[in-house]
Amino acid sequence: MQSNTETVLLAVTPADQELLQKAQDLFKPVATRVENPANPITNKKVALGKLLYYDTRLSKTGNNSCNSCHNLSTFGVDNLPTSKGDNGGFGGRNSPTVLNAAYHTTQFWDGRAADVEEQAGGPILNPVEMAIPSKEFLMDRLKGITEYKDMFKAAYPEESNPFFYENVQKAIAAFERTLTIPSSFDKYLKGDVHALSSDARTGLKHLWTLVVPHVIQV
Ligand code: HEC
Repeated sequence: MQSNTETVLLAVTPADQELLQKAQDLFKPVATRVENPANPITNKKVALGKLLYYDTRLSKTGNNSCNSCHNLSTFGVDNLPTSKGDNGGFGGRNSPTVLNAAYHTTQFWDGRAADVEEQAGGPILNPVEMAIPSKEFLMDRLKGITEYKDMFKAAYPEESNPFFYENVQKAIAAFERTLTIPSSFDKYLKGDVHALSSDARTGLKHLWTLVVPHVIQV
């Protein structure tokens, strides 16, 4: 329960409402799940993708999961200059965060994958990262795990044999499509006036005098 003092502090004035309305006219909050019609996000697919994401059996020796280099408890990165591969050697590039990555128009530092579905296929077979020798090798390994048998069927109920590498990619990608961290400004745009401090709201007011006239032709 809020105390009376807090209730007073959190009051929303007509001026606050007016500012929010102006901001909502100009901006839209980002989605909390990044949809892809070619890979619909379902709870079962996300559950499978999450398990795969944390599973070191997706690397040859069992040293690396996706989470080793994109640790979700440290904002989706490993905090190393370059990442440590399955065989103990280091790769040539720094691991970017997976948080909000699904929003990006391309993946990797050089944009060589179109989306998180395509991207997820890369590291598993990359000799420096997870070093799985082939798609078949991975699928045979996963097929032998009882938990996965049930979860692949549940995630792809319309497929008689869902054990395809592409379905690993889709499940991991569906999970990544839920790894979004909307900002305070997004929460504000959804109507939570106090998601922005009063100082930030004062700053926002200046948008219409200092910025908008220069970027929007009226
Ligand atoms: C050994 C460390 C390592 C492992 C394991 C690894 N990654 Fe990465 N990941 C990287 C590095 C390094 C890059 C950047 C490489 C590049 O740009 O060429 C990257 C890039 C990415 C990106 C692109 C993000 C962006 O902003 O462009 C995504 C998404 C991603 N990885 C997801 C995954 C997933 C999913 C897995 C598991 C299937 C995985 N990674 C396994 C190190 C790793």
